[in-house]
Amino acid sequence: MRIGVLTAGGDCPGLNAVIRSVVHRALTGHTDEVIGFEDGFVGLLEGRFRPLDLNSVSGILARGGTVLGSARLERGRLREAADNADELCTRYGIDVLIPIGGEGTLTAARMLSDAGMPVVGVPKTIDNDINGTDRTFGFDTAVTVATEAIDRLKTTAESHQRVMVVEVMGRHAGWIALEAGMAGGAHGICVPERPFDPVDLVDMVTERFERGKKFAVICVAEGAHPAKDTMDYGVGEIDKFGHERFNGIGTTLARELERRLGKEARPVILGHVQRGGVPTAYDRVLATRFGWHAVEAAHKGAFGHMTALHGTRVDMVPLADAVTYLKTVPEDRMEEAESVF
Ligand code: F6P
Repeated sequence: MRIGVLTAGGDCPGLNAVIRSVVHRALTGHTDEVIGFEDGFVGLLEGRFRPLDLNSVSGILARGGTVLGSARLERGRLREAADNADELCTRYGIDVLIPIGGEGTLTAARMLSDAGMPVVGVPKTIDNDINGTDRTFGFDTAVTVATEAIDRLKTTAESHQRVMVVEVMGRHAGWIALEAGMAGGAHGICVPERPFDPVDLVDMVTERFERGKKFAVICVAEGAHPAKDTMDYGVGEIDKFGHERFNGIGTTLARELERRLGKEARPVILGHVQRGGVPTAYDRVLATRFGWHAVEAAHKGAFGHMTALHGTRVDMVPLADAVTYLKTVPEDRMEEAESVF
């Protein structure tokens, strides 16, 4: 079998572990050949690829980013790929394509699959918002980075009697804010799923100061927004990939709390730090398992599916299940977190 692999969309720690695992399983568990397309679907369309052997994936397990490069693709170019699905397989002589990516990539994978290309997807995203899988690799690393940041911010916040507003990634799903906020012991968590009222945050900080705890840390997802008519916050623009560019809720909220409380507040935007660097042990293991299962699924002809973690088991689920809607934070998870604010 000749396997094409690519990484698309925003990068995430663990991508290299999947690539390495695919190559090992394909070459040593089977007698396959693997080629890697550069810069995601862009490389597939432009004919940029290279053969991957054991030496080319040696030493990449713990490396962040992706050795193949990644890119987002405009919808129009995606259509172009779907319209030429057959021709692309013939041109590269591939029997299966393994795209590793988040919601956008898996949507593209589904389009290609519907157009007749044999595709086995591997879900990735630090946001953990892919439906059909309990976890995506990259999430554990992002939560670990954000938790360490909260730990560090607490000590400096306490020294200066400040409110720290830590903005983490998460456009539509607040999983990173929820879990890093819980693990770091944040005093408030704001997620996109539940609009917040700044009055509640003001009350929380006031109550803490009154009982002698003269600092507070609030963990806010980049896609979080205030409830209607509670404070000024505009809607962001849509970029050429269809993603909303947010207006900086961390900075706006810190300014608002400073004004309402008369206390110093500082925003800290963690941004891409959460996506860079070495994956945690958990993410390396999950990524390696996903790579193994993707190759096995290809050999079983389970096209149009993606790898998924269910409990401790890796299963294959239809791509359609993964891209129909996003996995968002349910209300009961917020209630658990709130009990320890
Ligand atoms: O989807 C993953 C993600 O990291 C989001 O959490 C974040 O909003 C976005 O990608 C950032 O994208 P970019 O790398 O294009 O700035």
